[in-house]
Amino acid sequence: MYGLTGKTAIVTGAAHGIGKAIATRLLKEGCAVGIFDFDPVAAEATVEALKATTGGTVALAIGDVSKGDEVGAGVAALKATLGAPIDILVNNAGICRLGKVLETTESEWRAHFAVNADGIFHTTRAVAPEMVERRAGAIVNIASWMSKQGAEAYGAYCASKAAAMSITQTLALELAETGVRVNAVAPGLIVETKMRDESELLRRQQGLPTAQDRAKSIPLRRAGVPEDIAKAVLFLASDEAAYITGETINITGGMYND
Ligand SMILES: NC(=O)c1ccc[n+]([C@@H]2O[C@H](COP(=O)([O-])OP(=O)(O)OC[C@H]3O[C@@H](n4cnc5c(N)ncnc54)[C@H](O)[C@@H]3O)[C@@H](O)[C@H]2O)c1
Repeated sequence: MYGLTGKTAIVTGAAHGIGKAIATRLLKEGCAVGIFDFDPVAAEATVEALKATTGGTVALAIGDVSKGDEVGAGVAALKATLGAPIDILVNNAGICRLGKVLETTESEWRAHFAVNADGIFHTTRAVAPEMVERRAGAIVNIASWMSKQGAEAYGAYCASKAAAMSITQTLALELAETGVRVNAVAPGLIVETKMRDESELLRRQQGLPTAQDRAKSIPLRRAGVPEDIAKAVLFLASDEAAYITGETINITGGMYND
């Protein structure tokens, strides 16, 4: 459907949630997929499940996106296993922990930037040079509607996700003449992910409205699911989006539309 058959992709943070849904859809479209995640137990289980459900080619490298050396080694290992240059890079790995700016420790602040912003920097530097050489490729970053607007009690997350959108815009301009496109998606309230489950637990403890409560005020009247994000990522990764670069597309059911 998206013309991705035979392409090779790397998806970071695909052991769980949105990344797993993106990997699943890419495999179903006929891509070979390399997964890079720092949770070995969940990642191995996901790889086995994906092989069983899609029959596709899946490779796994374990490592932390916030560490340049681990990303470099992981990308090299995935390329060797998949035996092909990378056509599509999906920078999905991310963390989100509740915390008002004045109550956020320096290490929490740095942890958000290390994963949500530096992670994109490291994987892109490991994968994009070959795309530039081949004058082909698509990068899709998973940002957030909180890249575009502050949100109370999400200080470090909002700031680090704003950085993810900014990297997308600059890189798109820098690589445009080579034909490599760089875009992002900005998910809204997405359930059925590990991050959402963890965040909901904390929100309940703090008496904050739950996802179920908040979903009622979403214009499309439901929370999003990982597959909603995967569909948009596939579009942006494909030639159907050949004239789109530097965008951060909202996928929020109408909750956020600026
Ligand atoms: N769930 C939502 O409502 C929502 C909303 C907006 C944006 N997002 C973004 O979508 C992306 C996926 O989120 P999700 O909800 O599926 O979360 P999730 O926790 O279910 O999945 C995140 C994945 O990233 C991996 N990961 C985390 N830190 C890593 C690191 N340092 N190195 C390598 N892998 C790492 C985890 O092991 C996990 O597999 C994130 O970037 C998140 O910020 C999620």
